[in-house]
Amino acid sequence: MAEALKVGVAGLGTVGASVLQLLSQHGGQIARKSGRAATVTAVSARDRTRDRGFDVSGLTWFTDPVEMAEKADIDIFVELIGGDSGPAEDSVRAALKRGIHVVTANKALLARHGVDLAILAEAGNVCLNYEAAVAGGIPIVKTLRESMAGNDISRVYGILNGTCNYILTRMETDGIGFEECLADAQRLGYAEADPGFDIEGNDTAHKLAILTSLAFGTKIACDDIYMEGITSIATADIQAADELGFRIKLLGVAQRTETGIEQRVHPTMVPKASAIARIDGVLNAVAVDGDFVGEIVLAGPGAGGKATASAVVSDIADIARGDGTPVLGTPAADLKDYTRARMRLHEGGYYIRLSVFDRPGAFAEIARCMGEAGISLESIVQKRNAEADAPVKGDVEVPQPVILITYETTEVAIKQALDVVMSKGVVAEKPQMIRIEKLN
Ligand code: HSE
Repeated sequence: MAEALKVGVAGLGTVGASVLQLLSQHGGQIARKSGRAATVTAVSARDRTRDRGFDVSGLTWFTDPVEMAEKADIDIFVELIGGDSGPAEDSVRAALKRGIHVVTANKALLARHGVDLAILAEAGNVCLNYEAAVAGGIPIVKTLRESMAGNDISRVYGILNGTCNYILTRMETDGIGFEECLADAQRLGYAEADPGFDIEGNDTAHKLAILTSLAFGTKIACDDIYMEGITSIATADIQAADELGFRIKLLGVAQRTETGIEQRVHPTMVPKASAIARIDGVLNAVAVDGDFVGEIVLAGPGAGGKATASAVVSDIADIARGDGTPVLGTPAADLKDYTRARMRLHEGGYYIRLSVFDRPGAFAEIARCMGEAGISLESIVQKRNAEADAPVKGDVEVPQPVILITYETTEVAIKQALDVVMSKGVVAEKPQMIRIEKLN
């Protein structure tokens, strides 16, 4: 067997510690399967004295990851620091420039600099592997990069953020509000250091940007993503979705259209019978529509030390095996420019929740506005507000929730129709609008 690959791990948090644990526990089988052993010989972290549950005495220690990338006697540099700039970017660039393979779990770094880094890696004939950067332990990068090479992909979509999925699941199963669920997600350690990254959709967008490039052979375009988080989702929406046969999920969707590729992150109504609707709690799932294979769905843990380490080590094993797939599936020099489809032309059904003053003719007014915009309604339901079961309390009119489901229409039509509805004085507040995703 060839000499063991020497691995340097930068960042010894939960994932770094799990990578060391995995390699020590399953090193033998990895060597047998890939034909070459991989041994951690160097590490980089700030505090050497911290007890991480393993012995670091035999390892070369660096406090500066860039120094490790530049000077350590290693074949693979594993970046587990995080962040789209600073030490993570500097150390990855240094390793690639030096001709060392890189494995990273850093979605933000790849979303921002992935094409640049791919060019660097391919010029130096080294690997840049990042299975852990998208959906943690789910092998979606490998699936798109290798297993689906023979398919024309029309759409890739998924639940890519465990924190949001946990919040939406708890809101449904326990009937509790958004804030309480978010506090629990933070307490359980699911959320990013800044939970805004999770709940506003940025984390999903970073992962989606990478998936789009892999699926469509385009340059990564992480600033060209339509993004809406889950902060506006109320328990009223969750309950209405349930009654109408849907569940609400934060989806990242990349879809080929006639005008370009849509990249969108938003809360989405998915039919209860769909595979994606059944993904609960912190789990992630990714679905890919290919012209020959049809739809495939992969589900599993999207975060956590052990699951992420499983993906990191699979990247190390690929390097040990000598795999040299282009970083983004297509050689970086051949990636096409990304053409953004205009969101205003997005087509689909819509769920609308209106807060309507319960007056004669209010329904007719709403239906007329929709009809005049060319929008056909599948259903319109008035739901009595539990706290205000009378439409008038004293002199005060209490608005009542009205739920509309539309047939397929365009984003521009629905927005214009809602603006007209607002101008008629029959609704009390800005409507809630949630897109319905067409799924098998
Ligand atoms: N905060 C992320 C999540 C972790 O909730 O899925 C993995 O990116």
